Amino acid sequence: MKKILVTGGCGYIGSHTIVDLIEDGFEIISVDNNSRSSEQLLKGIEKITGKKVKNYKVDLCDFNDTNAIFVENEDIAGIIHFAAYKAVGESVEKPLLYFENNLVSLINLLKCVEFYKIPYFVFSSSCTVYGNPDHIPVTENTPMKPAESPYGYTKQMGEQIIEQFAKVNKTACVLLRYFNPAGAHPSALIGELPIDKPQNLVPVITQSAIGKLPGITVFGDDYDTRDGSCIRDFIHVSDLAHAHTLAMRYLMKKEITPDTEVFNLGTGSGFTVLETVKTFEKVTGVSLNYKIGPRRPGDVIAIYANNDKARQQLGWEPQFGLEDILSTAWKWEQKLSEDEKLFSRRNIGLN
Ligand code: WQD
Repeated sequence: MKKILVTGGCGYIGSHTIVDLIEDGFEIISVDNNSRSSEQLLKGIEKITGKKVKNYKVDLCDFNDTNAIFVENEDIAGIIHFAAYKAVGESVEKPLLYFENNLVSLINLLKCVEFYKIPYFVFSSSCTVYGNPDHIPVTENTPMKPAESPYGYTKQMGEQIIEQFAKVNKTACVLLRYFNPAGAHPSALIGELPIDKPQNLVPVITQSAIGKLPGITVFGDDYDTRDGSCIRDFIHVSDLAHAHTLAMRYLMKKEITPDTEVFNLGTGSGFTVLETVKTFEKVTGVSLNYKIGPRRPGDVIAIYANNDKARQQLGWEPQFGLEDILSTAWKWEQKLSEDEKLFSRRNIGLN
């Protein structure tokens, strides 16, 4: 069984990808310092797959601790690198925190890839590298524009670091540009665990629907779109996860070349913010309290993917649409709420 190192394995996309990799026959180890995650999702992975995944609670910004993982695991066949900070707004307020964390961790990891000659490397990138595109849908050849945030710059720089690294190392690399990850595993045993108040639309919707948030502010309805609100390409986290497994299999089959491959991971369909809100109400029967507010600085007006390359070269076929994304996200939110009630009842000795 080939062993894959997943960084950020306790996180939202990392945990879903571990499930998919295990189901495809891989052995997994995780590295996650739990600064923005908890090992709770590892329990969900074990319930779904029956496999207990070892997590190394290591900060990848510490080279010696990172190196020690490779000393202990001489049989790492490939790496999927998720671990990074990803809150757009926070990155604007704390740029150095983002550049240091996201880039030092990547460089430390690549130093180990180089020294231990790890042959396959998959990088978690983002459609944010396109900035505000002039034409949509975007293909992998759509030119990058200035990023809208330091977070976006760390993804652009991360891609460039990997491309230059791959030119002089026998490591086959793939960059996966996610559009808007959302939803949860259909079992509701793993999902998104926002650490603080969520910034992203779908968790804001589900937390508003369950009563954790008072309501939703739609950031602008005066854009040049069909209903005035922004357009996004929401991709189910399980579809995203499977794309990583396909990408790793793709690398393992192909000859190692100095060229890095890039793939867009979106459904190819764009929905407006207001359409997403209304679809949630339709799918769940829960009416949402929302109001129109001012535009959010840095928001891209409209973006969705041309995903032909991933379909053709990875054999990737997204299985979930917007309604599935919203219904699985809602099922997960309801499960979280039940668990929190159970936890608080136990704490006060009610059962
Ligand atoms: C989507 C739309 C908001 C919240 C970012 C990163 C991307 C990825 C996902 C990491 C926008 C609107 C949102 C709210 C709203 N990050 N919105 N009210 O900004 O497209 O993408 O997060 O993987 O790389 O760039 O996602 O969900 O924050 O916003 O109206 O309370 O929903 O204005 O138009 P975004 P988002």
